[in-house]
Amino acid sequence: MKRGLDRHTLYELCVQSPRHAAMLLRAIHAGSPSVLREDFAGTGAVSREWIRQIRGGRAIAIDHDKATLARIGRSTRIRPIVGDVMKAPLVARADAIFVGNFSIGEIHTRGALVAYLKKCASRLARGGIFVCDTYGGQSAFKVGSVRRQHHAPGGVRVTYTWEQREADPLTAMVVNAIHFRADRAGDVVADIADAFVYHWRLWSVPELRDAMLEAGLGDAAVYNQLPDAVDSEGNAYVEPVEDPDELGESFIVCVSARRA
Ligand SMILES: C[S@@+](CC[C@H](N)C(=O)[O-])C[C@H]1O[C@@H](n2cnc3c(N)ncnc32)[C@H](O)[C@@H]1O
Repeated sequence: MKRGLDRHTLYELCVQSPRHAAMLLRAIHAGSPSVLREDFAGTGAVSREWIRQIRGGRAIAIDHDKATLARIGRSTRIRPIVGDVMKAPLVARADAIFVGNFSIGEIHTRGALVAYLKKCASRLARGGIFVCDTYGGQSAFKVGSVRRQHHAPGGVRVTYTWEQREADPLTAMVVNAIHFRADRAGDVVADIADAFVYHWRLWSVPELRDAMLEAGLGDAAVYNQLPDAVDSEGNAYVEPVEDPDELGESFIVCVSARRA
């Protein structure tokens, strides 16, 4: 099916780096992971990449938006499940559970966060990892926009705008919006304001670590979003961030924990 420059295609082009996410998960796991559970999966881009990177690997991708998840396509090695991440069935114990692009913020209360992480602990195989990303630092509760340009096939230039529209440091609730504008040699071919709007609870790194430990997971650690190094065979290496000076004033990190 030809989809053109719809909001999901533009999101995958501008927002995601599933290749790096899958490499990072493999490196944090540090064993031979096989089953990925991608919660809040959206179009399941990390699941698709996981089965490309891992011979015989399998993925379970869960999202409550049927139309978005349908973009995952068909593979005998990916099981898409339309539903709530809290209630979706245990299909197979996962070696890695991944919650990407700040989706952990879809959970708004600490009670619900700990309950969700307890579910995750019960869905992991022994030694399996839970990983989610979050942002923090000086600009975490600032409103404003960041604009970046990307190039799509056919000479299309895409301007991607990430807007933090509202941010309340008293409740840690934020409203974020993504806008796209695409042009070919100056002719606008797509202009999608508010392509995605999110109402998130912005969880800090220590809040996530505490909740993970309370949920029965161990070894809570923080990693940069991109692997530290990648060898010629595509294997990534990561070291946990232990010195706050490594983070910069504003940062995006992955927070992980492991089932014993
Ligand atoms: C920010 S998007 C992230 C999508 C994907 N993880 C990515 O990296 O592109 C959040 C996704 O979570 C889904 N979602 C929100 N609450 C959910 C829930 N309780 N259960 C399942 N999916 C949920 C939304 O439909 C949306 O696709």
